[in-house]
Amino acid sequence: MREAGLEVARDEAGNLFGRRGDARVLTGSHLDSVPNGGRFDGALGVVAGIEAADRLRETPLAVVAFRAEETGPMGSRRLEELPEAFVELHIEQGPVLERLGEPLGIVTGVIGQARGTVTFEGQAAHAGTTPMEERADALVEAARFVLHVRESARDGARATVGALEIEPGATNVVPERVTVSVDARAPTAESLDALIESIGFEPTWRLDPVAMSGPPLAALRAVLPGAPELVSGAGHDAMVLAAAGVPTGMLFVRSLNGGVSHCPDELSSAEDISLAMDALTETIARVSESDTAGV
Ligand code: GLV
Ligand code: MN
Ligand code: MN
Repeated sequence: MREAGLEVARDEAGNLFGRRGDARVLTGSHLDSVPNGGRFDGALGVVAGIEAADRLRETPLAVVAFRAEETGPMGSRRLEELPEAFVELHIEQGPVLERLGEPLGIVTGVIGQARGTVTFEGQAAHAGTTPMEERADALVEAARFVLHVRESARDGARATVGALEIEPGATNVVPERVTVSVDARAPTAESLDALIESIGFEPTWRLDPVAMSGPPLAALRAVLPGAPELVSGAGHDAMVLAAAGVPTGMLFVRSLNGGVSHCPDELSSAEDISLAMDALTETIARVSESDTAGV
């Protein structure tokens, strides 16, 4: 950030900023990842933001590396000061652009998501001496619930159990307590409500679907005429800013290897990233020059 001519600061939430001048436009993404995650999810948007700042030496702007995007509550939810516009570059993390043969896509919105846990209680018992019909096995109940979660996701909704905590967690003990994570996503607030109800869990964390809007979206469309437009199934810091009323745009770079992400096979090509860099730079330049109160 310093080499790109930015002044570096960190806020209370641990978000890292590089600023130049009276910055109205913010760009960037997150640096945290998931266990065994890929190299591009989040990090690419931070590096791209710094590169754009380096190319736009005369433009007041800010670049951010948000904290804790993957785990929530996101660092982006604790921004002390909202920008006038936000632009995030990110890999698609899905197969759409690869199937279309297109390097870049414009995001029009992000689907809603909710997360929480459900705990199943049983009775710890000896694995060798407790008759099968006398067991209260919390993991067997949790296993039925995992299938129920999967079956609850219909009509574009998604529901995932990605983590189990099994207590006491020993080979020769009938499980006493199992905590199951739930990640539920749906395209509308109503369908997200219905999914949560069908699964039967209390969200500890929820973000409703949001639309990209205003000068950032208009600038992306002007810079990339005819580019495919996509709704993101993955969550992003951009959705937090959009929900807070900040005009927000997102640029997707094609994900290769079938669009796989949250795993080490995540890949985007240098050629596509180079095109995305040019588009991001031009978009930020246009948004900075626009009257961000209107389009
Ligand atoms: C972020 O990667 C998400 O879970 O959507
Ligand atoms: Mn991610
Ligand atoms: Mn991400």
